[in-house]
Amino acid sequence: MKRHLLLISLLFAVACSTPKGNVSGDIAIIPQPLSLVRHNNNFVITPSTVLVCDVEELAPLVAYTMEYLAISTDKSVPKSNYISFALDRSLAEEEYKLSVSAESINIVAGGYGGAFNGVQTLFQLLPSEVYTKQMCLPVEVQGCEVADRPKFAYRGFMLDVACTFVEKENVLRYIDYIAYHKVNRLHWHLADNQGWRIEIKSHPNLTKVAGFRGGDSPLRAALGKWNEKYGGYYTQEEIKEVVAYAAVRNIEVIPEIDLPGHSEALLRVYPEMLCNYTNEELNVNGNYDSRNVVCATKESNYRILEEILAEVAALFPSKYIHIGGDEVNLSQWKRCPDCSAWLKRKGYSDGSELEDMFIVRIQTILTKYGKCSSVWNEAAKGGNLSKEALVYSWQSVEDCKEVLSRGYNTVLMPQLFFYYDMRQSIHENAPIWREVVDVRKTYSFDFDELGFAPETIALVKGFEGAYWSEHLLSQDGDRSLDFLDYQCFPRLCAMAEQGWGKNGGEWEEFHYRLYSRHYDRMADMGINFRITPPVVKYEGGLLSVEKIDNSTIYYRDDSNGRVGKYKGAISTDTPAKYLFWAEYRGAKSPEVAHPSHYETIQPKVKLTSSMPENPKYGYGRVSEYYMKMRTTRTCHKGDWLLYEFDDPVECRAVELNIRNYHMPATRLIHKGHVEVSEDGKSFKRVADLELGAVRLVNPRPFKAVRIVCDETAIGGSDIRVSAPLIYPKY
Ligand code: ACM
Ligand code: ZN
Repeated sequence: MKRHLLLISLLFAVACSTPKGNVSGDIAIIPQPLSLVRHNNNFVITPSTVLVCDVEELAPLVAYTMEYLAISTDKSVPKSNYISFALDRSLAEEEYKLSVSAESINIVAGGYGGAFNGVQTLFQLLPSEVYTKQMCLPVEVQGCEVADRPKFAYRGFMLDVACTFVEKENVLRYIDYIAYHKVNRLHWHLADNQGWRIEIKSHPNLTKVAGFRGGDSPLRAALGKWNEKYGGYYTQEEIKEVVAYAAVRNIEVIPEIDLPGHSEALLRVYPEMLCNYTNEELNVNGNYDSRNVVCATKESNYRILEEILAEVAALFPSKYIHIGGDEVNLSQWKRCPDCSAWLKRKGYSDGSELEDMFIVRIQTILTKYGKCSSVWNEAAKGGNLSKEALVYSWQSVEDCKEVLSRGYNTVLMPQLFFYYDMRQSIHENAPIWREVVDVRKTYSFDFDELGFAPETIALVKGFEGAYWSEHLLSQDGDRSLDFLDYQCFPRLCAMAEQGWGKNGGEWEEFHYRLYSRHYDRMADMGINFRITPPVVKYEGGLLSVEKIDNSTIYYRDDSNGRVGKYKGAISTDTPAKYLFWAEYRGAKSPEVAHPSHYETIQPKVKLTSSMPENPKYGYGRVSEYYMKMRTTRTCHKGDWLLYEFDDPVECRAVELNIRNYHMPATRLIHKGHVEVSEDGKSFKRVADLELGAVRLVNPRPFKAVRIVCDETAIGGSDIRVSAPLIYPKY
């Protein structure tokens, strides 16, 4: 094996005889080390450089490093031309010192984690090709002394594989990506309403039945998957493989089984775990039962949960198992004769006391298996949660502060800073269920500015970024994994920076590090990251964009589709026509335009439908709302929505949208077409709906547009409807 590597190295040496390196210009490391001093004694890694390490504990790290640097290893230290790893127990576990001199590169660390962190810093001192595992040698490394440690022990990434199953290979890929950023926890969201992804040998139906959505599964499909059955799960062998792969990369995997709410997947397999009441909702919602709360007073439920959690505990070395506790629909307990009797007996009325009791019971089970619970912040409100628990504060900044003030160890992930499913600018294509959150917003999180009490910060264990995957498959078909990258990076880089202690400067400084060096690194890591879009300006008849990084700007003339490289201001009296975007090595920004591009016209419109209207959102007020006009039932084949205008509408485009990324297939017209009428009487079919939406470009002037349903939906209570968005002619 060693000889094989040497041969490869020699081939590289022939291929590139001039040292390449990262020694000119700035060192731009993410996350920024605590201290880095550069000097001029650069080191050159050649094919004859050896990696020296005699610490058995670091053997996996040596093997890991050898995958990236094609050099050989040794146990004894030569006079020069070596890279060494060693431990110094006086340093903290994740602390390291990295020294690059003309003779050698030395990484000394408190423990495995520190040595791993040192290797990641070393990688960022090398050309970005290191991440391709095909870096040519020799390579010159900037002389420097780095002394570094993280401020926060917990730097996490939550991957929701319950809503959309992510294949094991892609989980491993994400472990690599986050490890490159010194992120050391993978919070693996394995069970939720939408799916159960972890094999439980004593309960095989959990994955057999609830590992899949759509088709004949009792779990409804996501937007765009319609009647197709899809999904998957991890076998216990695969879970062990992921845990071991992560451990080499200094990542602890924390599994989550979301309880007692968000438990549709579990409850569709074991309906006997539900509360004891008849669900009239079933009649309204068609085939799908949406009850999702485990009955808290059925003793048998705790036996089943113990069997499940015992298997989970045996698979994961982490001290913690995340048991959920978020968004529990208390009304289900209140309707249950047994749960409501418990509340009455105890003199409670709220219902949240039952959640408290449930969490304490589960915690007792976990203790038996040597584990502590971690929970979402709602579960910390009752007061009986053990102080051993780790609380994930995801709601508002105020909720984060409240959890800290109650004395809980907390991972901070307020959604308006750290949720990667949220849209990154207003006009791009992603769900917008709360707000726009871009990388700058993640980087802007600041304890002082947000008014955190300084004495509570010791309880902050760290930060986490979360990707909720319900709409992942609805986005871009085959490119959905690219979309995952696009949503997570570079927001995850900013989160890593927060977790490390934000040793850098203001946004501009961080952004500079990001584009000047890290864009290349992410490209070589294989990440389809998002570029911050350029800023569009229009003054004195000149349309220009302000270039804010080292990407290349392109533009498209929307009136004729012509695409060009942006070379300077465009003289025009119709700035609305042009769309701009930035590209860097395959990565892209969203398209941006002058505000006039997004302006719409609002001719008077009358909406009627074959489906009765909800009096609260009457059709007569259709122009007042977007995505709110609701029917009182789902659609059947032949149902229609008709928009009529007094005068013929002339426009460059019209968008009809009844899509909502968070609405299941049952609550929109999933198969339908659009008809247009020029005289308001005779209609012509012009397009099919795609994911519940359609955009008609350059239509002939029309007096009416009609959406017609071509297939009866599976069930569901209503359809959301909006007024058409009509864009004026240029
Ligand atoms: C959550 O986003 N419900 C934790
Ligand atoms: Zn109950």
